[in-house]
Amino acid sequence: MADGLRKGLTSYGDAGFSLFLRKAFIKAMGYSDDALNRPIVGITNTYSDYNPCHGNVPQIIEAVKRGVMLSGAMPFVFPTISIAESFAHPTSMYLRNLMAMDTEEMIRAQPMDAVIVIGGCDKTLPAQIMAAISADLPTVVIPVGPMVVGHHKGEVLGACTDCRRLWGKYRAGEIDDNEIEAVNGRLAPSVGTCMVMGTASTMACITEALGLSLPMSATIPAPHAERFRSAEASGRVAAEMAKTKGPKPSEILTPSSFRNAQVVMQAIGGSTNGLIHLTAIANRSPYKIDLEAFDKLGREVPVLVDLKPSGEHYMEHFHHAGGVPKLMAQLGDLIDLDAKTITGQTLREVVANAEDVPGHDAIRSKANPIKSEGAMAILHGNLAPRGAVIKQSAASPKLLQHTGRAVVFESVEDMTLRVDDPALDVTADDVLVLRNAGPKGAPGMPEAGYLPIPKKLARTGVKDMVRISDARMSGTAFGTIVLHITPESAVGGPLGLVRNGDMIRLDVAKRRIDLLVDEAEVQKRRAALAPAATPDWARRGYAHLFNETILQADEGCDFDFMRAKGK
Ligand code: FES
Repeated sequence: MADGLRKGLTSYGDAGFSLFLRKAFIKAMGYSDDALNRPIVGITNTYSDYNPCHGNVPQIIEAVKRGVMLSGAMPFVFPTISIAESFAHPTSMYLRNLMAMDTEEMIRAQPMDAVIVIGGCDKTLPAQIMAAISADLPTVVIPVGPMVVGHHKGEVLGACTDCRRLWGKYRAGEIDDNEIEAVNGRLAPSVGTCMVMGTASTMACITEALGLSLPMSATIPAPHAERFRSAEASGRVAAEMAKTKGPKPSEILTPSSFRNAQVVMQAIGGSTNGLIHLTAIANRSPYKIDLEAFDKLGREVPVLVDLKPSGEHYMEHFHHAGGVPKLMAQLGDLIDLDAKTITGQTLREVVANAEDVPGHDAIRSKANPIKSEGAMAILHGNLAPRGAVIKQSAASPKLLQHTGRAVVFESVEDMTLRVDDPALDVTADDVLVLRNAGPKGAPGMPEAGYLPIPKKLARTGVKDMVRISDARMSGTAFGTIVLHITPESAVGGPLGLVRNGDMIRLDVAKRRIDLLVDEAEVQKRRAALAPAATPDWARRGYAHLFNETILQADEGCDFDFMRAKGK
């Protein structure tokens, strides 16, 4: 098979001419024939002025290029979409599949023997890994790394668990305008991804567990020198992969590696979004994430990493305690150590090299876990026939079994307009219900599942309530929050049948979420539902593609035609 610059020639009906033309044009950049005859490592550039999480990407790229060239290959940097959480309207999840398609097609379209994808902000690593699996070219993933922590009045701060906690205090009147302004300048003190166990950190840890990135690459803080040395080393690995044409993602990923990723996700107190992304990633391969098996793992795997929002520390502490290799060492036989990695090492060799760091408590032992069960539980019931998820490690234990009266919001807009209305009929024992916030309904399944505590209750000291929705939630958030209710209300899911005042029962121990309304009444309400119609926003362009082909949360919210098996 052709390699280097000869790969994937542009079609002019004359291969010799195609190569002649390609070389003539690329020589305009000043390259020598020697440079152009080397194996090529493509490098994605996801730097954007809109994406502070990726603020170190230019420096990472320089380090990667150094590593590639020191190993005798040729780096070619190319741009792809960049998605930043707080700059993506209506929500970053709406764009994840677009980024995956862009990345996959540019890997396919341009000549390269291996590729390095550099990402980090929540949806970017999932999109890039989905693309890499579908393109099946030897791939090294480089997470940009977490931010370092901030400080305020002697307290350690981190985006964005503390963003939400302190905003909650501001809403409750516990801190004033001046203080919230001061906090605003201290929550994100450096470039890099959120430094708690949010989606970005979860996906970086999962990537390492899947063997697609170098050991320790999930946790090295974004501004640290070590981050750039790791990038240089990643460049060297990619250059070797470009020369040997392997290993490809299809040669690394196995059912065991996906199981390892799920074990790590439970043990780190991972983001609920990670489950959707891992499901979509697996669906690009011949394998599947089985929600029942994931829940069963959750009963066996303890949470060992003491990071917010489930625990106390931040990513840099996890790193200094030994990172993912040390965590996998602590997990012992819960991890399949024969799983392969991009370096050619197995996880057994990675774990054998894990650093022993006496005196650090960010990674616990199995004998002394943060929580004896894993981070997430999968719920079923008449409200969620195809499942729902709760991050039990970040919930209030007393609310994990709770029956309360439904207070229903029809949409994110309705919730925004009414949740703080002093006239809202709500008590701390009620269950807040948000619907039409799923993959199709919102669209894009925004992180609106973390419904705010109504201001009048927050001001009386209420910190948590049971909240349920077909939306997602930031992995950085805390609370007794049931998410991803499937099927969503916009496609006829039973969440659409709940009325104000109905009783709802949550029982996490039994893995149930149920509407306590008799079946005859439920059927009457279902018969009265208006049939779903194409919404105005979905009549053209990407929105149309999205609305027509988006899968539900239990299938990873990929487009139906993008899975390995196609449509
Ligand atoms: Fe980019 Fe949190 S906003 S990782």
